[in-house]
Amino acid sequence: MLKVQSKTGNYITIHGEHYSYFAGNDYLGLAHHPDVIQAATLALEKYGISFSASRQTTGTSEIHLELEQLLARFKTRQDAVVFATGYLGNRLLFHALKGQYSTVFADAQAHPSISDGVPGGIPSRIYEHCNPNHLEDLLKKNKKHRPLIITDGIFALTGKIAPVDEIYSLAEKYNALLIVDDAHATGVLGKNGTGTPEHFNLQNAKNLYQSETMSKALGAYGGFIAADETLIQSIRSKSTFYGASTALPPPLVAAGCASLSLIQQQPELREKLKKNAELIRKGIQNMEFHTTGEGTPIIPILFQSRQKTKALSEYLKENHIVAPAVDYPVKTDNFIIRITASTNHTTEQIENLLFILKKWREKYGTH
Ligand SMILES: Cc1ncc(COP(=O)(O)O)c(C=O)c1O
Repeated sequence: MLKVQSKTGNYITIHGEHYSYFAGNDYLGLAHHPDVIQAATLALEKYGISFSASRQTTGTSEIHLELEQLLARFKTRQDAVVFATGYLGNRLLFHALKGQYSTVFADAQAHPSISDGVPGGIPSRIYEHCNPNHLEDLLKKNKKHRPLIITDGIFALTGKIAPVDEIYSLAEKYNALLIVDDAHATGVLGKNGTGTPEHFNLQNAKNLYQSETMSKALGAYGGFIAADETLIQSIRSKSTFYGASTALPPPLVAAGCASLSLIQQQPELREKLKKNAELIRKGIQNMEFHTTGEGTPIIPILFQSRQKTKALSEYLKENHIVAPAVDYPVKTDNFIIRITASTNHTTEQIENLLFILKKWREKYGTH
């Protein structure tokens, strides 16, 4: 584990030394944007660190409501609700939609917040990773039950975009609900940055829900769901989490408001991210490293050997670059160096990363 001693911008400090940083999920560089920091600081001064109360009692502030309105508008939905972590979003949706489905169908590499969130008594079926044909085989065999299909939008380790268009066609055919965990796609995919459904022109699709977070591209913290009024009201009135857990701290709420404005007013942040990610991905593909994903800021280098993966990560570190060897939160068939692009990376920084990777490849190869 790295002991970070600074902000995790495009450079970080470890043991007093600077490293070029290609890790984490601050894709748009908003966690350190001056507007976001200023908004959080002002809220800290005005409201303190915490309201020390649940949303249902005295934890709901004017800025919580403002943020929820902004999120609803951003997502062109009737309403939105924010809560402590994105991890909870799938669970909240599973519970709010209870009674409308009887079996869950989840991708084999889905984030653990999905399996953790399935309510007791509801059976789950696992379909092969990003394989709509296998999903359909399972749906055919389960015709008696109303299905709920769930997938990550962008997979955290491989950077793959789930085939949400094909999965949605199956959802329509088999009268299923569909949840997309868009933790890594919010602010990143789609013309307006609203995530994977927008990427596939499904932003207004019926029976499609997203579980989202402000903790990654939004550079803040906390989960959110934007949906129709009835569903959001049901979360507010029935969720024990909403009613019996302390509200999201005011500086984070204010940070969320500020970064949401930036995402909407500065599409160039997303454009620059795309360019940086492409530059890294092309360089890695040209060197014939094994990689996956297209059009996302997560660019993995895949190996069959854990030792080799660790060795490359160490080599990068010796050359003052941080890109971790990652083997969580799901098991894949490979060991992975997870490189992430950020809007704030400079071309020079990226060229240096590719140069160091090339040097390593010349010595040790790509497998
Ligand atoms: C796919 C996915 N879903 C949910 C989460 C949880 O989000 P948060 O970190 O906001 O709790 C993560 C983050 O690690 C994730 O990768």
